[in-house]
Amino acid sequence: ASVVQRLWRGRVSAGMLTPRLQRAMKDYLNANKHHVAYKGHRRPAQSAKELLCQLKAQARLRTVDGSEQPFSALGWAHLVPPVPLEQLHRQKDQSGFKTCAVVTSAGAILHSGLGKEIDTHDAVLRFNAAPTEGYEKDVGNKTTIRIINSQILANPKHRFNTSSLYKNVTLVAWDPAPYAVNLHKWFASPDYNLFGPYVERRKRHPAQPFYVLHPSYVWQLWDVIQGNTQETIQPNPPSSGFIGILLMMVLCEQVHVYEYIPSMRQTDLCHYHERYYDAACTLGAYHPLLYEKSLIQRINTGPESDLKRKGRVTLPGFTQMYT
Ligand code: C5P
Repeated sequence: ASVVQRLWRGRVSAGMLTPRLQRAMKDYLNANKHHVAYKGHRRPAQSAKELLCQLKAQARLRTVDGSEQPFSALGWAHLVPPVPLEQLHRQKDQSGFKTCAVVTSAGAILHSGLGKEIDTHDAVLRFNAAPTEGYEKDVGNKTTIRIINSQILANPKHRFNTSSLYKNVTLVAWDPAPYAVNLHKWFASPDYNLFGPYVERRKRHPAQPFYVLHPSYVWQLWDVIQGNTQETIQPNPPSSGFIGILLMMVLCEQVHVYEYIPSMRQTDLCHYHERYYDAACTLGAYHPLLYEKSLIQRINTGPESDLKRKGRVTLPGFTQMYT
């Protein structure tokens, strides 16, 4: 069976990857750039229900709120949005969105015709610089939340201040701190400097909801992936895709994820909006993508036909679970 067919069944191993991707993985393991030292147990055989409960309990959404140094001394408590992200989209009756779509940027979504279906959701999450203009038939045109990595803020080529991609949406930015989550070290040397542009944007557009994920949240998600995987995974943060899925499980009653687990349209085309081909975008080199995807497939409640035809996974929101 191909790697993708194995993903549809949630059974994967690095041994299925091409030698080139296996070597890239090994290099990242040896480099251990973020000084990961995993201390937890491994329980690779948990049931879907156990896995969901663990995710709900351990992956508590957390954003930088300005209560800790060095951010408190810099006045971030008054800089960050007054309403916490998890409450932003809650109505008076305390319920969040009913149904949500997470739209990955995978090339496989091209020619899917999923745009209409995606736009019927109450909220749509997109990633980084993924456009809708010109691709509406396949990806829809509604955007409620955009998750952006620190490169989007730091690299001038993305025109973060002027591009319409980042306007009229809720923004959630992230950058990997060292695994031990020393905020002073993180502030002094982030992967890409997002702090200056964040502060500037908050001052210029105080009404736009814009959050920075707490690095402890990112690494807690990583811990859950490693804790549920037999193999040693890449010591690098999960992909924006995985982070976005877990975020929407907090905000929504039901989450549909598109082209994260590849459909039968699976392709080496990295993004639907760029002519760049690399299987690493789908199967991972830097990010532990293969393992993230396997974990999501294990909690998928939708039928295999949805996966094959739509690349669609169905997940329950955390509020819908009884613990
Ligand atoms: O590349 P970028 O991180 O902007 O893409 C957004 C997310 O979409 C990724 O983090 C990954 O989870 C998902 N993706 C994928 N397969 C691809 C491209 C992106 O699963 N070929």
